[in-house]
Amino acid sequence: MGHVIATTNMKGGVGKTTLTVNIATALAKYHNKRVLVVDLDPQISATLSLMSPSDFARLRRDRHTLKFLLQQEIAGTPGSIQVHDAIQPYGGSVKGLDILPGDIDLYNDFLVSEVLYRKAIRNPERNFEKVWGAFELSLMKAVLEPVMSRYDFILLDCAPSYNLVTRSSLLISDYYLIPAKAEPLSYIGMQLLERQIRKLAETHQINRQQQTRLLGIVFGMSRNLFAGRHYQRVMDRIRKEFGANQIFKTSVPMDVSVAKAVDSFRPVVISDPTSAGARAFCQITKELLDRLTPQTAHLTKDPKQSVNLSKLE
Ligand SMILES: Nc1ncnc2c1ncn2[C@@H]1O[C@H](COP(=O)(O)OP(=O)(O)OP(=O)(O)O)[C@@H](O)[C@H]1O
Ligand SMILES: [Mg+2]
Repeated sequence: MGHVIATTNMKGGVGKTTLTVNIATALAKYHNKRVLVVDLDPQISATLSLMSPSDFARLRRDRHTLKFLLQQEIAGTPGSIQVHDAIQPYGGSVKGLDILPGDIDLYNDFLVSEVLYRKAIRNPERNFEKVWGAFELSLMKAVLEPVMSRYDFILLDCAPSYNLVTRSSLLISDYYLIPAKAEPLSYIGMQLLERQIRKLAETHQINRQQQTRLLGIVFGMSRNLFAGRHYQRVMDRIRKEFGANQIFKTSVPMDVSVAKAVDSFRPVVISDPTSAGARAFCQITKELLDRLTPQTAHLTKDPKQSVNLSKLE
């Protein structure tokens, strides 16, 4: 069984999608891994980083996006669309890289609540919260289980919100990766995320060994990342709260080649492999592989390094 990794941060625009598609491409292209990118964000940025809008529109017409798989699970009628049908091989020159396209309307909150409410009132316990919890726990598992064994890595590109699909994705993830900017608001986004993950584990009574674990924090998109007193202060706070070894050594520089790559549907690691951004993503991919080797002591959470959330509670 491969690794399931969610890329997540409650803060928007911190580089989650760019990091996800570049790590995925580097893993497939330079490390011969079988990789699936799952786009969980209705902004469909991961999808449109790997395929053209016209290809996406065609897949949507054929009902081959995540929306239709979720719809089947919500309606409780799985079967007519298989996840294998929705998954697309990446059209560029990278073997082993697949995408499960997202959708601009992933699911309807009202409909989910209505379906689960009906289910709850049919149940003798009449416990809506319990029915919701069971659904949240099973949703993404049901969608991805048929293909889990096919991949070395499944990378889940989460939306910048803590919604049903984000929670369900965190529940099936082995690890989560936090892209962040060295800014106070990004830091608060990380704290909120840690708090939500802790609450999620409590709600579902998941023990420490089985919980999704922090794979690391990747900093990026700041020109003055390691210069200037302001950035240093923010970085010091993050090191103190999360532990210095939770921070990837490589950070992602601000690089126009990274942003331009989206236009060609080819992540920068293949569209401009010698650019500073591409080199950083390749280095981060190596670090990620190192962190997943069994000797990686830093993944054993030291209680002293756990996040101090008292200020937020
Ligand atoms: N290293 C970089 N250099 C220059 N531009 C970048 C870099 N990384 C990301 N960008 C650009 O910044 C914008 C936001 O990046 P991205 O979409 O990856 O963030 P996100 O966290 O996924 O956003 P959202 O929260 O909306 O999902 C995009 O336009 C992207 O092309
Ligand atoms: Mg994104």
